[in-house]
Amino acid sequence: MDKFLVTGGQELKGSVTISGSKNAALPIMAATILSEGKNIIKGVPRLRDVDTMAQILTELGVRVTRLPNGDIETEVKNESESLARYELVKTMRASICVLGPLMAKRKTARVSLPGGCVIGVRPVDLHEKGLQLLGANLVSEHGYIIGKTKKLIGTEIYLGGAFGSTVTGTDNVLMAATLAEGRTVVDNAACEPEVQDLAVFLTKMGAKISGIGTPRLIIDGVKSLKGTTHTIIPDRIEAGTFIIAGAITGSRITVKNCRLEHLSALVDKLRDIGLTLNKNSETECTVLPGKKFNPVDISTLPYPGFPTDLQAQMMALLSLADGISVITEKIYPDRFMHVAELNRLGAQIRKEGPYAIIKGVPKLSGAPVMASDLRASAAMVVAGLAAEGTTEIHRVYHIDRGYEKIEEKLKKLGAKIKRVSDKETATGDE
Ligand code: EPZ
Repeated sequence: MDKFLVTGGQELKGSVTISGSKNAALPIMAATILSEGKNIIKGVPRLRDVDTMAQILTELGVRVTRLPNGDIETEVKNESESLARYELVKTMRASICVLGPLMAKRKTARVSLPGGCVIGVRPVDLHEKGLQLLGANLVSEHGYIIGKTKKLIGTEIYLGGAFGSTVTGTDNVLMAATLAEGRTVVDNAACEPEVQDLAVFLTKMGAKISGIGTPRLIIDGVKSLKGTTHTIIPDRIEAGTFIIAGAITGSRITVKNCRLEHLSALVDKLRDIGLTLNKNSETECTVLPGKKFNPVDISTLPYPGFPTDLQAQMMALLSLADGISVITEKIYPDRFMHVAELNRLGAQIRKEGPYAIIKGVPKLSGAPVMASDLRASAAMVVAGLAAEGTTEIHRVYHIDRGYEKIEEKLKKLGAKIKRVSDKETATGDE
């Protein structure tokens, strides 16, 4: 297992280019199950989760090729298979995104239930409800969702749950509805830019979708979808992570291939904290060094609210604020595994139910910490960049799921970060 050694206190300089969005790329890859002909997807990041999706699709008869220029080409070759195995699904929940396309195109699916994970219970009842309303017969057997249908028929679907809209649930229902007979209206659809990107991709394939980016999606089913070419939107969470890394180190860095309009809740909070972010163009911004950080209160919410996927990184920044901040996690009330690890670095954070109360401290000090999930790992890196001395971040395989070449990008900015393989740390690693 690899670990990172981060030596803090370096000012970052220069620019970083953000990769394509993981959470847009994964459902878009799954959507290619729906199409006839070849698809070319540009800007797909090189990540472990992308490899997992490629493997699932390959087992489902889709040829997936990474072209020499980095684009991904897909083409359905064989539609007889409908199984997404537990061994793959358990490593990545986004695998559930093949369920909707399989039901719509192949009328049958056997997709492993993803189960919970370290950030919470994460049920898929809303995915099932939406697909069942469209006419899918779904049963749960031996840990698998077994789906069958004669045909899907458009209908009205309210897709909200106790925590609001569902991102991949909306993806699944949207994909299934594109080939359903008649009109589907989805209310309380997720509005995240990644869902919008999927809808744009489906539209290019020939789907009839209106209301993209709003909580009401209207889909008029079509008979078939064709292959197309699409460029994935920039990863707003990776961009946000680098912006926070610049802020916490008091640096001036430029973030390229970043769409600030997808990050307005973060921009607003950074302003309250007292930081300046210059928008250089539609796809580029510069973080300016700040002198001190004001405390702020934040609630994570569905888009355009503050993203839960930046909560941990923001907590690292607020741990150095001049006063008390409160973060309320409204999407995953248990997504606080990073609290104890940040406290190991000298932060003073108390968790009370879905709230984290962060008493700012003047400095953090490097220590060995554990990365518990993807975004918590990013928070450890961000905190490590600001901490005195060396922070040793174990289990960084989490970060490889969602950040393309993070240590290379940080090194280019002047950060002192080193990946150490398990061979070198045979005695120290778990
Ligand atoms: C997506 O997960 C993202 N993953 C997550 O990113 C992200 O944290 C999350 O959306 C919220 O923004 C991908 O896009 C691949 P949800 P998803 O369904 O779709 C509850 C990362 O780090 N819910 O929008 O699984 C659920 O428990 C990851 O990149 C139900 O109750 O999230 C949560 O409280 C982690 N029933 C809320 O809704 C359901 O059927 C929102 O979850 C589905 C969800």
